Amino acid sequence: MSKKIILSGVQPTARPHIGNYFGAMKQFVNFQTTQPDAEKFFMIVDYHALNTVQDAAQMKQFTYDLALDYLAIGLDPEHSTLFKQSDVSAHTELAWIFDTIITMPYLMRAHAFKDAEAKNKEISVGTFNYPVLMAADILLYGTTTVPVGQDQKQHVEYSRDIAQKFNSIFGETFHLPEPMIMEHVGTVPGIDGRKMSKSYNNTIPLFATREEITKAVMGIVTDSGSDIPTNVRAIHALFKSETELTALYDANKGKYKILKEALIEDIDAFIKPLRERRAELAQDPDRVAQVLKQGAVRANERAQAKLIEVKKAIGVL
Ligand code: ADP
Ligand code: TRP
Repeated sequence: MSKKIILSGVQPTARPHIGNYFGAMKQFVNFQTTQPDAEKFFMIVDYHALNTVQDAAQMKQFTYDLALDYLAIGLDPEHSTLFKQSDVSAHTELAWIFDTIITMPYLMRAHAFKDAEAKNKEISVGTFNYPVLMAADILLYGTTTVPVGQDQKQHVEYSRDIAQKFNSIFGETFHLPEPMIMEHVGTVPGIDGRKMSKSYNNTIPLFATREEITKAVMGIVTDSGSDIPTNVRAIHALFKSETELTALYDANKGKYKILKEALIEDIDAFIKPLRERRAELAQDPDRVAQVLKQGAVRANERAQAKLIEVKKAIGVL
């Protein structure tokens, strides 16, 4: 088996939340110790975010923030290549090439597209094409493993399909990637019980202040009919073992306030060191720029080599 290549990305669309962390970002950091020999690429997918963030100042801010977040959770630019999608033009170029070999009905089966359509949203071509750009992100690096949350599983399957289709038309060019989902986390629920998501306004931000944590936890929707507030418990499960949880929730049946206060303590104890590390890193904004620049150089090297191979395969070079 050839070398393991791990790649993933997060959209700079808003502050990341604990769902992003436990569902995806935490694994990125763990790989540095569990997969020291694998190559690792972690992106800020700004061109994907452009579907929703259409304000230059905001785009700049979210991008910088996410780079800082990546560093603050412990990603080490010496072990992992951190870069911005828009710094590597091969991504959009390859997405176009893929566009020519896949069909509209095929893309219309994507969950994200169907959800948007069901909500009668005016869907941009970029949103429709989202899985194609994501396939290019993944396939350009010979990626073997894509650590993501459950909601992205279908997108990784799209990239496999697209790789297979390309290979069958133009000859063996792309490696088929595998998604890697943390099963026991799967989907982290938000404070309203739906999936925690930047777009639902139901998040607990990853670098939240104590006040923000308190406000979010106090806002967790509880069903007053039951002894155990399931939404509180589900979020609590990220911070305590099942045994500890059972003991705590059994001892405090129906005492929502006490349980919420315990959750605030646990979240704050977890976030505090991250918050402090982030504040420290924020003292040196030039370092963030430098990390992304270095990442772009490394990523471009890899992506360009693959793109040349692709161009030869399709006959434009
Ligand atoms: P959001 O849905 O909040 O906009 P993104 O689409 O930017 O988040 O997702 C970034 C990463 O975080 C993806 O790998 C995604 O699967 C993961 N993720 C997002 N929300 C959750 C959640 N509630 N639980 C687990 N993982 C999540
Ligand atoms: N679609 C992913 C999300 O919403 C972000 C993403 C873009 C991504 N390109 C990727 C994730 C490549 C993994 C690999 O979270």
